Amino acid sequence: MELATTLKSETIQNNIREVGINPNYWYPVAWASQLKIGKIIPVMIWHLAIAVYRDAQARLHALEDACPHKGVALHKGKVQDCNLACGYHGWEFNGNGECVSIPYLPEGQKLPHAQARSFPVQEKYGLIWIFPGNAVAPELPLIPEFDEPDWLMVPVTAHFQAHFSMCNENTLDVFHGFLHQKLQGWFDPILINLQETPSSVCAEYKVSYKGRLAKFLGLSEHADQVTTLPVSIKYRYPHFYTSLQGISSLYLMRLPVGQVETRSFAFFFFKVRFPKWILTQLKPLMQIVIQRLFLLKFLAQDIEMVESEQRNYLANPHRRYVEINPAIIAAQRLIVRQYKEFIQSS
Ligand code: FES
Ligand SMILES: [Fe+2]
Repeated sequence: MELATTLKSETIQNNIREVGINPNYWYPVAWASQLKIGKIIPVMIWHLAIAVYRDAQARLHALEDACPHKGVALHKGKVQDCNLACGYHGWEFNGNGECVSIPYLPEGQKLPHAQARSFPVQEKYGLIWIFPGNAVAPELPLIPEFDEPDWLMVPVTAHFQAHFSMCNENTLDVFHGFLHQKLQGWFDPILINLQETPSSVCAEYKVSYKGRLAKFLGLSEHADQVTTLPVSIKYRYPHFYTSLQGISSLYLMRLPVGQVETRSFAFFFFKVRFPKWILTQLKPLMQIVIQRLFLLKFLAQDIEMVESEQRNYLANPHRRYVEINPAIIAAQRLIVRQYKEFIQSS
């Protein structure tokens, strides 16, 4: 459905700041390199604590992080071959969460029925993904640039002390170039197209660029030249895809952790005009430079704003706020709709 792009005042419904997730999607929980063979990490998907471990054959398993014996966190245990042994009494659980051994059970005695919930888990694009839902798991988001050698990929992880709706609005809202003006971000945005489906919001803006960053990205020949380009931001629940006309793209995978805690795992791709052999040599250095000199600086400014928004919301949850960007209003509708859909189906 096509929506009007007029900027017009709407009161924000505060329940958006309390709404839960639709868990019937894949959520990224950690970079795969963070989890070595024989190790366990605790992760959280919207208040759901999960212990993820990599067994002796490098396979991933995800179990609820609560031992069926007494509720101790399973991530405090250890990996024994393919199983996870709880740290308290050493009960062992296989990847399906079934208790398969109790070290002090007399020989010949039957194991009790003790089952930890297990979750579908997979490794893709260097990330560990978990499906915490109760429906049929959909496909993972596609990232075609990931395997294409002429794109430079820069990964960025973010951690916000804020509700995921605030973080999502920050990603979808191009009108906050004001915040990044000292970093030579973008200016004069115009919302030119807005589409909404039951599971997505797609906003297209026209945005102007200028400065050293624009020159570096190949948007302009000179740093003082202004270039205006269309930018599309697609919020395909619960993740994002942004494209700047074949010059750069961003895949931002959202992880709502709890009421006021959200993470994201992002892949920035930049089209590089160097010959492939130079790119291969320079890739690690360029990744660090782009990440530290540009992306993390933008991110720090965003985190400061969003966390301040969250603190003020908590201090006075009944205060009404005003929005004029219809893309934000559409994203809020989408978040509420997805949550209600899940509640009604469960
Ligand atoms: S609490 Fe886990 S084995 Fe006893
Ligand atoms: Fe920003």
